[in-house]
Amino acid sequence: MENNTQLNNFFQGLLNRYGSPLYVYNEKILRERCQTILNFKNSLEGYLNNTKVNMHYSTKANNNPAILKIVKEYGLNVDCMSLLELDLNKKCEFEDKRILYVCNNIDKDEMDVVFNSNILICLDSISQIETWGSIHPGSDIMIRLNPGVEGVGHSQEVITAGKKTKFGITEENYKEMFEAIDKYNLNVIGLHQHLGSLFLNDKIDKYVKGVESFFELINRYTEFDNVKIIDLGGGFGVPYNGEEKLDFNLLINKLGNVLKKFEQEHKSIEEFKFEPGRYIPCESGMILGRVNAIKHENNTYWIGTDIGMNQLVRPSMYDAYHRVKILGASNSPEITANICGNVCESGDVLAKDRKIKLPIPGDIIMVYNAGAYGYSMASNYTGRLRPAEVMYNDNQDRLIRYRETIDYLEKSIVW
Ligand SMILES: Cc1ncc(COP(=O)(O)O)c(C=O)c1O
Repeated sequence: MENNTQLNNFFQGLLNRYGSPLYVYNEKILRERCQTILNFKNSLEGYLNNTKVNMHYSTKANNNPAILKIVKEYGLNVDCMSLLELDLNKKCEFEDKRILYVCNNIDKDEMDVVFNSNILICLDSISQIETWGSIHPGSDIMIRLNPGVEGVGHSQEVITAGKKTKFGITEENYKEMFEAIDKYNLNVIGLHQHLGSLFLNDKIDKYVKGVESFFELINRYTEFDNVKIIDLGGGFGVPYNGEEKLDFNLLINKLGNVLKKFEQEHKSIEEFKFEPGRYIPCESGMILGRVNAIKHENNTYWIGTDIGMNQLVRPSMYDAYHRVKILGASNSPEITANICGNVCESGDVLAKDRKIKLPIPGDIIMVYNAGAYGYSMASNYTGRLRPAEVMYNDNQDRLIRYRETIDYLEKSIVW
């Protein structure tokens, strides 16, 4: 279905049936990415003696159960960060030991649900260790450390290590951390770090260096001698703007030896975990919308669509780049335009200074690489409805989430 007319007809049909805008996921691409992650796990295990490698798909990237079930089919695990994500993981029948709760600043009630669900929790501050320890003394926990090195990430907002992040516990506070652990007789079975989101080949060295520093840090403390699990977080990137794809062989070559060395130094280690989020669904997903208006003001073309910052917030939030294409405008002249949504905010711009074919109202716009942090970050700001989601395989499609309705949104209002 690669030619424009076929795609146009197929997508036109989907928009007519499910409404515009619409998230669509190509199942084949999703399955290929799950397979790549599984191959990564198997190859890394090949480097190691007995240590297992487990891949936990980070539910926050896209929590649709249709995606979670495919992830599960490939034998991958999950991590989650809220009770809704946990519930979805459970409903998709991930066994307890395949779920990890990686949270930040949660209250006692949430901790209780996690504890009573038999899910391993990863805590990321001394204060959270104190709260957890006071209600569940003697239990197993993981701890998120901030390795102190500069993180990797596509924008400052997603760099999660170093001096400017809210995440993890830094070395200067370890004495206090060990005291809290002892006070509640907690058993630290795992250590976690997540350097940031979206690294590609040019940052592999920095990523691996970050892992080495993490290991050096762990080696300095006898208190960590019995740790069984090392979790290296997520961050595997995808090309949004024509960059080279992440070269897993290169990553494995560079990372494999570092993990192997650590495995030899730490006889207690049983498992390395990773938490890829974006990598799995990102490239399988697109958001489709319609062009509603075109205007030319102050020498600038503005293409007004129904894909606003409430449907896909990454461009407004991180200045993120998404490729866009207008379907159906193949005979029109090329222009340079800003493409924007229908929200009453100047920042509601999806793409700036793009060369596109001059569209007409009603044309379809496709926004690529919207499968991760697309729907999961969507909101109802200005009262717009969150779109439906559809999975397709060749030209067979199935609805995997209904489009919201005004009635549904008004249900929570106390009149
Ligand atoms: C702790 C943790 N693990 C995993 C992820 C997933 O990261 P990514 O989608 O970049 O792979 C995130 C995302 O920010 C995270 O905060």
